[in-house]
Amino acid sequence: MVVYHLIYPMRTYLIVSGQGEESNVMAADWVTVLSHRPTLIGVAISPKRYTHRLISKYREFVISVPSLEMLEDVWIAGTKSGPSKLREMNITLVPSTKVGTPSIKEALANIECKVIDAREYGDHTWFVGEIVGYTYNREVFPRGKPDITRANFLAHAAWTDFVTFEKKIHKAE
Ligand SMILES: Cc1cc2nc3c(=O)[nH]c(=O)nc-3n(C[C@H](O)[C@H](O)[C@H](O)COP(=O)(O)O)c2cc1C
Repeated sequence: MVVYHLIYPMRTYLIVSGQGEESNVMAADWVTVLSHRPTLIGVAISPKRYTHRLISKYREFVISVPSLEMLEDVWIAGTKSGPSKLREMNITLVPSTKVGTPSIKEALANIECKVIDAREYGDHTWFVGEIVGYTYNREVFPRGKPDITRANFLAHAAWTDFVTFEKKIHKAE
């Protein structure tokens, strides 16, 4: 048993790294916000990933938010290594607003980060990114807040199992 699956389901993201022909995309669950001001976000990436090499080289990355409809691409991104996988994927890389690393057109949102710190924890590197730019689908995030009725947000249950959220809001009083 993998104990960390006890804190799942977790959201799954796509991490874009590199630039131009060297652009690459991998899947990542281990992503979290670390600070509000400045807005910092962290991602744990194994040194075995091609992405690790590219983030170390360019010191930037983009966190893309995929929908359930992008699951096939998410799975390719999360099981194959290196930029050649992009030829098998149905995503469109588009220029980002503040970094040289591209964004993903089909994603619900793209968060552009510059690396401000990288530390080894066990067998992963914790890359901390300061958010320097972002783009998002305004229909899916009206007033900057996710509308779960307008997109199928993707989450990972474990292994090959993925889920989405029910189309209902439960209000906390
Ligand atoms: C749903 C999912 C989540 C993943 N989360 C992470 C993660 O948080 N960190 C990580 O290092 N690898 C994670 N992986 C594994 C990488 O995505 C995978 O090894 C990928 O092939 C690396 O691609 P690259 O070598 O082109 O960078 C995940 C894989 C999947 C399918």
